[in-house]
Amino acid sequence: MELQSREGWGTKAGFILAAVGSAVGLGNMWRFPYAAASSGGAAFVFLYILMVFLVGVPIMLSEFAVGRRSRLSPIGAMKATGGPRWVKLGYLYVLTGCLILAYYSVIAGWTMRYTLEALLSGFASDPGAYFTESSTGVGAVLYHIGFMALVMSIVVGGIKRGIERVSLVLMPVLFLLIIGLAIYAAFLGSSAVDGYGFYLQPHVGELFSTSTLSAAAAQAFFSLSLGMGAMLTYASYLQRDENLASSAVTISISDFGVAFLAGLVVFPVIFAFGLQGEVGASTLGTLFISLPRAFVDMGGAGRVVGLIFFSALFVGALTSGISLLEVVTSSLIDSSRLDRKVAALGAGAVILLVGIPCAYDLNVLGLFDAIAGELLLAVGALFLAYFVGYRMRDPREEVRKGFAHEGLISGWLWMVRVLAPIILAVVIWDRGRNVINIISSL
Ligand code: TRP
Repeated sequence: MELQSREGWGTKAGFILAAVGSAVGLGNMWRFPYAAASSGGAAFVFLYILMVFLVGVPIMLSEFAVGRRSRLSPIGAMKATGGPRWVKLGYLYVLTGCLILAYYSVIAGWTMRYTLEALLSGFASDPGAYFTESSTGVGAVLYHIGFMALVMSIVVGGIKRGIERVSLVLMPVLFLLIIGLAIYAAFLGSSAVDGYGFYLQPHVGELFSTSTLSAAAAQAFFSLSLGMGAMLTYASYLQRDENLASSAVTISISDFGVAFLAGLVVFPVIFAFGLQGEVGASTLGTLFISLPRAFVDMGGAGRVVGLIFFSALFVGALTSGISLLEVVTSSLIDSSRLDRKVAALGAGAVILLVGIPCAYDLNVLGLFDAIAGELLLAVGALFLAYFVGYRMRDPREEVRKGFAHEGLISGWLWMVRVLAPIILAVVIWDRGRNVINIISSL
C-alpha cells in the first residue's frame, strides 16, 4: 500500500539539496571551525576528511540502501528489511532525533534572534552580557517555539511541496552567502592571514591521538546527519534508479565545503578585531559572543556582514531541523497511519516540551548534545553498519542500481563490515567516557 501512496521527490536536485540541507547546519558553522582550531588545526581537518570518506560516506550509503529498498521511515524500514527484532533500532533513531532537535532548536532560536536583531536594531553593544541574558529564560523559550513552529509548518507541507521546495531555494542562497563572506574575510589583510594560521596550523602530533580521531569522527557523523535515520528517511522518497553512491559523495563534499568555508570566515573576522584571546572559552561563546563583538567593532559594515552571517546560520539550522522532524513525523505516519499534519504537529509539540529544560540551563543543553548528538549517533551508526554488513539481504543489489562498479561496491561493503565498526567502537568508548564525566560533574 505504501508503495503507491507514498510521496516522492520531484527531482533529483530536490533530493540532493534537501539532503545537503539536512547536513549543512549549526554543526558546520558552530562545531567544525571550533573543533579544528582547538584540536589539531590542519591535522584535524585532515582526519576529518579521512573520517568523512572512510566512515561517513559508507554509512550514508548504507542508510540510503535501507531507505530506498524499504521506501519506509526508520521504524518501518528496519522492520521491513530486518524483521521485528530490528524495529528497536528504528525506535532508537526516533528517540535520538527528538533529543537532538530539542536542543538544536534552542540554539537555532538564538540564531533567529540574532538575525532579527541585526536586521532591526543592530547587534547589542555588549554581546557577552547580551548572550548571558538572552541564551536562557523566557526569551530563549519563545525563540525556541518560533523556530519549531517554522519547522513544523514546512514539514506539514510534505516532501515535494514542503521540504523540496524550501531546499531548492534556500540552499543555493546559503552557498552564495557563505562564499561571499569568505571572500570578504579574505580581504581583511594581515589579520586574515593570522586567522587562517590559527585555524589551520598543523599540529602533526594530533594525527595520532585517539581523542582527536574520535572527535573528528563524531563531528563527521553529526555534520553529515548520520546515525539516526535522517538520510535513510530522505532516501526512502527516492526513485528506484538514482545513483546512490554519487549522491553520497556529492552531499558529503558539499557539507565539508561549507564547514571549511565557515572556518575561513570566523577566524579572520575574530582576528581582525583582536578578539583571539576569547576563542577557546567555549564553542558557543565563539559564535554568539566573539563574532558579534567583532561585528559591533566593525560599525555599519559589521551590521551587514553580521546579518549575512547569522542569516546563513539560521537557514542552515532550518533545513537541518526540518530533516530531524521529518524522521519522527514519517515514522509516526508509517507506524500509526496518522495524517501528516497531525503527526508533524504532535511530534513537534513533544519535542518543543523536551527542549524547554535546554532553554533554561546550558548544562542540560550540553548534556543533550553529548548524549544524543555524539554518543547515540555513533551507537545508531554501529548497529546500522552491522545490519547492512551482516544481516541485510543482498545490500550490494540496492547500491548497484545506477552504479556499476563492482570493485567499489566491494570496497564499500568492506568498510561497512570492518573499518566503520572499529572506528565507531573507538568513538563510542571515547564519547561514552565524556558523557560519564559530564554526568558525574553535574
Ligand atoms: N547535520 C546537521 C548539522 O550539521 C544537524 C542534523 C540534522 C543532524 N539532521 C541530523 C545531526 C541527523 C544528526 C542526525 O547541523
